[in-house]
Amino acid sequence: MELIDTHCHLTFKPLDSDIAAVLERSRAAGVTSWITVGTSLHDSQRTIEFAGRFDNMYATVGVHPHDAKDVTADMLAQLNQLAQNLNVVAIGETGLDFHYNFSKQPDQLRVFAAQLNLAQELNLPVVVHSRNAFDETMDILDRHGSAQKRVVFHCFSGSPEQAKQVLERGYYISFTGVVTFKNAEQTRRAAKLVPLDRLMIETDCPYMSPEPMRKQKVNEPALMVHTAKFLAELKGMDLIDFAAAVTATSTAFFALPSPRN
Ligand code: NI
Repeated sequence: MELIDTHCHLTFKPLDSDIAAVLERSRAAGVTSWITVGTSLHDSQRTIEFAGRFDNMYATVGVHPHDAKDVTADMLAQLNQLAQNLNVVAIGETGLDFHYNFSKQPDQLRVFAAQLNLAQELNLPVVVHSRNAFDETMDILDRHGSAQKRVVFHCFSGSPEQAKQVLERGYYISFTGVVTFKNAEQTRRAAKLVPLDRLMIETDCPYMSPEPMRKQKVNEPALMVHTAKFLAELKGMDLIDFAAAVTATSTAFFALPSPRN
């Protein structure tokens, strides 16, 4: 089994200082490639640095909606520069978070739009964070992302109805350990609808440990196997077949090269 953790934050504490052991446990569990996701300009410099240090690790560069308030034109130009690095496979995470509203909504909209334009200019896929802002996210994607079908809704926890809208646009849906949580019935119903050629999995570690490891406060890529097993069962599939399918989807979506052993 060669799973890809398509959305992890290996630059975050405490994973970053223990990275060799984290990756060793991940490989032993069958999670053999990683996309470490940038959340700010500074973090995006670090994701690139990490991806340069380890085989089968790739970076994304982007500014999380929480940090949108501080983003200047000069910073967007720097992000454009970073995005040219060969280990960068996507723009993000970017999007809208109207749950926390750590940045004002006009700032979030402005910085999301700028990153969608950047992705289009560089022909890179987009990793979208959307919380309490589904309609606004779809609207801005419709306006800026029409030519861009490589869009993934990360950590999806929406309804089956929302999943249908995402799929109708040609976009992708990625599930974290949230799908294993007791109270996530609507997310499970949504997951049943998503065909394997549009479905990806991720940890979003160090957050969101899946059941039955939810008590492990610090999530890590090795634990993604629990989410894979859970979804394989939900789909009535063998784990090996499920893993092969989602790895193929993820490899194509991010245009990853063949893994190095
Ligand atoms: Ni994330």
